[in-house]
Amino acid sequence: MPHKPFKAVIPAAGLGTRFLPATKAMPKEMLPVVDKPAIQYVVEEATGAGIDDVLIIIGRNKNNIANHFDSMPELEAKLREKGDSDKLAKVEHSSDLADVHMVRQGEPKGLGHAVLRARSHVGDHPFAVLLGDDLIDERDPLLTKMMEEYDKRNATVIALMEVDPEHIHLYGVAAVEPTEEDGVVKVTQLVEKPKAEDAPSNLAIIGRYVLGPDVFGILEHTEPGKGGEIQLTDALEELANGGGDGGGVYGVIFRGRRYDTGDRVDYIKAIVQLAADRDDLGPALRPWFKEFAAGL
Ligand code: UTP
Repeated sequence: MPHKPFKAVIPAAGLGTRFLPATKAMPKEMLPVVDKPAIQYVVEEATGAGIDDVLIIIGRNKNNIANHFDSMPELEAKLREKGDSDKLAKVEHSSDLADVHMVRQGEPKGLGHAVLRARSHVGDHPFAVLLGDDLIDERDPLLTKMMEEYDKRNATVIALMEVDPEHIHLYGVAAVEPTEEDGVVKVTQLVEKPKAEDAPSNLAIIGRYVLGPDVFGILEHTEPGKGGEIQLTDALEELANGGGDGGGVYGVIFRGRRYDTGDRVDYIKAIVQLAADRDDLGPALRPWFKEFAAGL
């Protein structure tokens, strides 16, 4: 039987300690990437893949995420009065984007715990999880392919990316077997943040997942793992080993442009790359970048 449309779940309740003090009173998902907060790109990615119901998991100090996706009557009236239709459209766009819902994660007990908070909103249907600080360039679509694989295989689907050995300890890492399809692998084992010498491959989990409701039953009994947090990777490892509905876990290998905006260097790269590529900013910036790089 066909399932109801996918919903999207965007966890944005982490502490963002790598970005302190900027994230002392502001979530890292609200840091601007050029002129939009990171999380708006992520919501746009979900709606671009045809999902119009979005649940954001928010933490303490996260009211500004809710405000960003709400209408701002005073600001809108001012811009209307001034006849500034371009800026008005930008302000209205973020509140019209999708049907955005919020749920709180009282304490940041880990990504697995954050995903479990989505249970009552998601119900008995498959859903996509998009990490709120992980940007996938819209020119390199990924989510649609992952949802197609979910439907085709009736299995959990995660996104994997090749990373250098010196960065592997920052990720969940997958042991995989090939499938009949190039770029799609069967996941046989997952390890959260292994040392380079213990990593089962160079394929790291990145922030996109397409999950069935069976993951909730597993997360309910998942004990705190690495860093004392309830890890989504540990629940996925159980699914890969025949847990849940038994469909297993598949990985879609992503070879496009991705920016982890929770990491300072990647955040700066995202701004430089995205601004340089834009028609309104690129022409002024590109010559300056060349001059700057020549002087390094
Ligand atoms: P990270 O590990 O990147 O987030 O979590 P963090 O803990 O905020 O980062 P640092 O290391 O302290 O800088 C990945 C995603 O999961 C969310 C985060 O908001 C981020 O989008 N998350 C993490 C939650 O929603 N709740 C949690 O308890 C943990």
